[in-house]
Amino acid sequence: MNISIFGLGYVGVVTAGCLASMGHKVTGVDVNEVKVQMLNDGLSPIIEKELPELLDINRKNGLIHATTDTREAILSTEMSIICVGTPSRSNGCLDTRYLEVVCQEIGAVLKEKDEKHVLIFRSTMIPGTMRGIVIPMLESASQKKSEEGFYVAFNPEFLRESTAVFDFNNPPKTVVGADSEDVARRILSIYGNVTGEKMITGIEVAEMVKYVDNNFHALKITFANEIGMLCKNLGLDSHQVMNIFMKDTKLNISATYLKPGFAFGGSCLPKDLRAISCLARMHDVETPLLNSLMVSNSMQVTNASKKIISYGKKKIGLAGFSFKEGTDDLRESPMVELIEILLGKGYDLKLYDRNVFLSRLIGANKEYITEKIPHISSLMVDSLDELLLDREVIIIGNKEKEFERILTDARSDQKIFDLVRIGDLSNARDNYEGISW
Ligand SMILES: NC(=O)c1ccc[n+]([C@@H]2O[C@H](COP(=O)([O-])OP(=O)(O)OC[C@H]3O[C@@H](n4cnc5c(N)ncnc54)[C@H](O)[C@@H]3O)[C@@H](O)[C@H]2O)c1
Repeated sequence: MNISIFGLGYVGVVTAGCLASMGHKVTGVDVNEVKVQMLNDGLSPIIEKELPELLDINRKNGLIHATTDTREAILSTEMSIICVGTPSRSNGCLDTRYLEVVCQEIGAVLKEKDEKHVLIFRSTMIPGTMRGIVIPMLESASQKKSEEGFYVAFNPEFLRESTAVFDFNNPPKTVVGADSEDVARRILSIYGNVTGEKMITGIEVAEMVKYVDNNFHALKITFANEIGMLCKNLGLDSHQVMNIFMKDTKLNISATYLKPGFAFGGSCLPKDLRAISCLARMHDVETPLLNSLMVSNSMQVTNASKKIISYGKKKIGLAGFSFKEGTDDLRESPMVELIEILLGKGYDLKLYDRNVFLSRLIGANKEYITEKIPHISSLMVDSLDELLLDREVIIIGNKEKEFERILTDARSDQKIFDLVRIGDLSNARDNYEGISW
């Protein structure tokens, strides 16, 4: 395939070398004449292992050529990959000025091109940029509609500098966000047999995926460094500690706990976070990330209470208020916190939780429920149907299987507020809302 690549920086020049090695004929485009000349001389404008050899051989084979001429590049290729820089502005927001210029330049050429050109954006951009800036600019400059006169897609790049060629050929995944599935498949096909799952999704999801990845990487590094500083002050080898931590692929290095939902609670997480923050203070170690977790966690309780208040209804039913399904443990349950906020504001509450109800009669928690939280205990009802009967808002607080029927059994005049994403939402009705979805 004939492919043009706009922006011959770290991403663009690696993409040029690797796609040419797969047999594509690549035209590199940059406003920087020095980079263009270097590529035409078979030289790499960046330091990156394996790249000089790739660029040299592919130029000799006639598979790489570079230009500053956008018109020549668009008219001689079927697809373009755009990887111009998207740096930070001084206020931290994304600077889209290079994107805007390249869209205007490309759009002006699309105006005179009959074939439907495919534009693949790999520059990192915040969700909404494609639809809010890129597509309108291309449409205005080309006087053509996206999906009619040309196609666009967002295809995040996951390579790391210093191992960029290896990462390009062995990506963890390939994600294409597009409005047309057919176009997304054509784009996936240019990458040949690269490793990792290939996924097609919406444009905005693909834009967001890149940020979630990079923010999570930053979170992991910061977490490891805070643990490392604390270990050092305790005379422990942090690498030994983390080697054992990483061996746990069930709860630690796994998908567990990564789906958005309600606040954490229970008898361990809050207590153990507080203890480690206290230990850090005793050793004069700053742990701002760890300290922030309880703050962020209680924000989720506040978020829930604000949402409930916004419904403007007084009769509230809570289904499930132990900190997770299958337990009667109410210690540090964020649902109990939420209940207390609502009680303080004068809401008419009914609470249902089969495990807590049974525990009040016979369980180990009997004393806690009847003596520590009698104000909550007295609001309990003994069946889900009692909530469905007269509550204006029903809150789903944990993933007890029986709560799934709330989605179908609640009347359409009853609002359902789900804190845990109880089931398949494909048939969710207008009266349904999730806390973080
Ligand atoms: N560097 C990485 O490891 C990496 C990894 C993944 C994603 N990304 C993202 O990819 C994008 C590019 O990153 P980079 O590090 O390669 O950037 P870079 O700054 O190294 O290169 C950008 C290039 O675009 C060129 N350019 C600017 N305007 C142009 C125009 N109108 N026409 C043609 N070329 C133009 C610049 O001259 C420059 O050579 C960014 O959005 C970045 O966030 C980077």
